[in-house]
Amino acid sequence: MALGIDLDRLPRHVAIIMDGNGRWAQSQGLKRLLGHRKGYRVLKDVLLNCSELGIEALTTYAFSAENWRRPFEEVTGLMKLIEDAARTELQGLVANNVRCRVLGRLDELPEGTRNALAALVQTTKDNTGIIFSLAVNYGGRAEIVDAVKRVIDDGLDAANVTEEALSARMYAPDIPEPDLLIRTAGEMRWSNFLIWEAAYAELYVTQTSWPEFDEAELLKALRAYQARFRKFGGLGTS
Ligand code: IPE
Ligand code: IPE
Ligand code: MG
Repeated sequence: MALGIDLDRLPRHVAIIMDGNGRWAQSQGLKRLLGHRKGYRVLKDVLLNCSELGIEALTTYAFSAENWRRPFEEVTGLMKLIEDAARTELQGLVANNVRCRVLGRLDELPEGTRNALAALVQTTKDNTGIIFSLAVNYGGRAEIVDAVKRVIDDGLDAANVTEEALSARMYAPDIPEPDLLIRTAGEMRWSNFLIWEAAYAELYVTQTSWPEFDEAELLKALRAYQARFRKFGGLGTS
């Protein structure tokens, strides 16, 4: 309990809606893109923290299916940042034994971003450490639609369309569902993130913006999680 957390009761899978980059940049008199750049550095640290704690999976929301509505300059800047980050971090992620995954409709991404992300996934696929998923052009409803299309392609009868059948056709069926969903920058909403998988996740919202998030904030969220009583619709006795 050195960190005030019980290392035997960690969430297996932590998901984060990394929000507030723009507001943070604005508060510093900086352009929004510089907020995203700072957010990228924070993500590097948080991934390392999660890996060192022994958390099995971390999934972070980098670009939503709805974020295309932003100004062209911000969208292209984010795509370039993701591409550059994927290329720059590749060797370090390999060295840290991180297994990278990407969730979202990747065929709609600019070619450079798509290729850099594909290389990251391919090169790290046999690593055995934390599974790090980046949600890019990700929408929870789009993911459910894609799963339904696969159910139809697979020729399932209505009787066989079960929750398990749909779960098995989501973007990452092999990763345990998120136990803890963190959102930074105070917004009390889901914004279409993992709406199928996080049905029973514990929610934790902090006022801290993503560029200001750090290990102490992560530990605070983990402590809050450990103080929760999960019941999954039952009485929580077994
Ligand atoms: C989150 O920060 C990053 C992305 C959505 C890409 P925002 O860019 O949404 O920051 P705010 O919410 O405008 O402050
Ligand atoms: C959610 O944040 C998407 C990401 C963090 C990538 P947004 O800033 O896009 O969400 P809304 O618009 O406030 O709901
Ligand atoms: Mg936002």
